[in-house]
Amino acid sequence: MDLFDLTGKVAVITGASSGLGADAARAYAAQGADVALLARRKEKLDNIVKEIESTGRKAIAVQCDVSNEENVKQAVEKVLSHYGKIDILLNNAGVAFAGSVENMTVEQWDTAMNVNVKGVFLMSKYIVPHMKEHKYGKIVNVASVNAIIADKPEPLVRHAYNASKSAVVGLTIGMATSLAQYGITVNAVGPGLFKSEMTEDTLFKEESFLKMYNALCPASRPGNKGELNGPILFLSSDASSYTTGQFITVDGGMTRV
Ligand SMILES: NC(=O)c1ccc[n+]([C@@H]2O[C@H](COP(=O)([O-])OP(=O)(O)OC[C@H]3O[C@@H](n4cnc5c(N)ncnc54)[C@H](OP(=O)(O)O)[C@@H]3O)[C@@H](O)[C@H]2O)c1
Repeated sequence: MDLFDLTGKVAVITGASSGLGADAARAYAAQGADVALLARRKEKLDNIVKEIESTGRKAIAVQCDVSNEENVKQAVEKVLSHYGKIDILLNNAGVAFAGSVENMTVEQWDTAMNVNVKGVFLMSKYIVPHMKEHKYGKIVNVASVNAIIADKPEPLVRHAYNASKSAVVGLTIGMATSLAQYGITVNAVGPGLFKSEMTEDTLFKEESFLKMYNALCPASRPGNKGELNGPILFLSSDASSYTTGQFITVDGGMTRV
């Protein structure tokens, strides 16, 4: 028995138009799942869907702003009418802004909270009832090491991001405790530094930050493309049937020193 096999499962991935979400969608499909890719940029989603279909797997693109309740409701209905079920939800959509409490705007704070936290809430709100009915579900929330540690030097501090990702971990714990009795596991991953649209022009451009990261990180480097997929597949498959409410950092040991 392959505990990591996802044949016959349907996975919904938010923030699948780039970076870690697009990589996870490819990984789910490679493990046998049918995938639904959600994000706002439809053209980008369509390209990744085509790429996945060319490997012989099923994929659909659904335009959705995860911070908008009506968008989320319609997206979930679309996935359910297309595939008939949802087994896996990867809440990966996220945004990050530099800014401390003194200098960020209220709009930036609201956007971080609306996408990073309310997005997880809304996607779960509309998918959990379906999972409960089927007595099966795997929910994986992409938080960050920034849920438990902060960035420095000063221009890189991201207080709204810290707060939002800590909230994701708290929500994960609460949901896991309530939903275990329905055969639904809820876990979170906390990536360290990975190259993506979010980081390539910011953290990766800041030499002092990269130097500090590599010096502090026991693995002495950022994560490579694909290195988040293993923990995501574990938490999305029957390999993690008795694992719930956990927050697994994927950071080369960064948060253990
Ligand atoms: N890269 C890292 O070092 C790192 C570290 C820790 C945690 N993370 C987390 O990993 C997740 C993925 O980030 P990434 O690094 O892969 O960055 P990315 O390439 O910028 O991906 C972010 C994704 O979120 C989507 N998104 C943003 N706002 C959205 C909204 N309102 N509705 C729906 N989708 C939205 C974007 O798609 P559209 O613009 O098309 O909507 C995009 O697909 C995020 O939650 C991030 O916080 C990343």
